[in-house]
Amino acid sequence: MEKHYAVIGDPIEHSLSPWMHNAGYSASGVDAEYHRFCVKPSQLAEAVEGLCALGYSGWNVTIPHKEHIIPLLDILTPEARRAGAVNTVKIQEGKRIGHNTDGAGFVRSVEGDLQGFKGKNAVLLGAGGASKGIALALAERGMKVHILNRTLEKAEELVQAVERAGGTATSGEFASGDWLTEVDLLVQTTSVGLHDEPYPFSLEGISSGTLVVDIIVTPRETAFLKDAKKQGCRTQDGLDMLLYQGVLAWEFWLGGQAPVEEMRQALKKQLFQRMFYEG
Ligand SMILES: NC(=O)c1ccc[n+]([C@@H]2O[C@H](COP(=O)([O-])OP(=O)(O)OC[C@H]3O[C@@H](n4cnc5c(N)ncnc54)[C@H](OP(=O)(O)O)[C@@H]3O)[C@@H](O)[C@H]2O)c1
Repeated sequence: MEKHYAVIGDPIEHSLSPWMHNAGYSASGVDAEYHRFCVKPSQLAEAVEGLCALGYSGWNVTIPHKEHIIPLLDILTPEARRAGAVNTVKIQEGKRIGHNTDGAGFVRSVEGDLQGFKGKNAVLLGAGGASKGIALALAERGMKVHILNRTLEKAEELVQAVERAGGTATSGEFASGDWLTEVDLLVQTTSVGLHDEPYPFSLEGISSGTLVVDIIVTPRETAFLKDAKKQGCRTQDGLDMLLYQGVLAWEFWLGGQAPVEEMRQALKKQLFQRMFYEG
């Protein structure tokens, strides 16, 4: 193999990235292989040295290392600097370059459906790491972002981060309310729904023109998305965000255009197999 890539995180067994990237290499005739490694927080620095010593050309970074890896890198792209988090590292001329494709990946996943961002209203439920990347990317494209979170202080901190980056944002309580009527894009970014638990508020009254996204990948249709469908909204699950952050990482590493359809099919096939074998 000419090139090696990987994803590091803890836990990592659930990661679908190896299937997505390896399918992309096969489809494009790229002589590369993608692995996944469980790296404990206390071993992050050693793991980074090891990947460099072994000649890896780059790697993805997932929970819990996205912020802690920053001091171990040489250069950050503007996207990584703004997000304060790295999900993709490229080795170029011996330098470790940290990048972030989470926010732009989300934007790519909704741009076909939304038809323009400027001046439109986005509501984000949750103010964690995923919400931060999405909020910054949407605000950068001119959307007004309203952030609702269980812990209001965290939503307020995120509003300040968006404002520092030149965007417009407000924060509020995590509950139903009038805000439901004038939303172009509603994004569920909390971990509620990962275990099929019901969502703690109803979407009754939401405009049917709203695009509703739940970034959870499994289950494919959360209680939140079922509720949105019942209200007549267009819906999108978390698969496309996962796909496009991977597509953008692929293009950051290799240049050119990633084979999106082959990567999408590999993700769907792997998800289907896991559902079938794991019930
Ligand atoms: N599709 C993709 O590519 C993709 C990418 C990244 C993440 N994700 C998914 O996004 C979700 C969040 O990831 P993350 O990295 O942002 O996690 P995180 O940084 O830990 O943030 C978790 C968020 O969920 C909220 N939350 C947790 N339990 C809650 C509850 N019982 N009620 C209300 N709010 C609750 C937290 O609120 P508090 O601040 O109040 O604690 C916080 O806003 C996960 O399900 C993850 O799988 C998907």
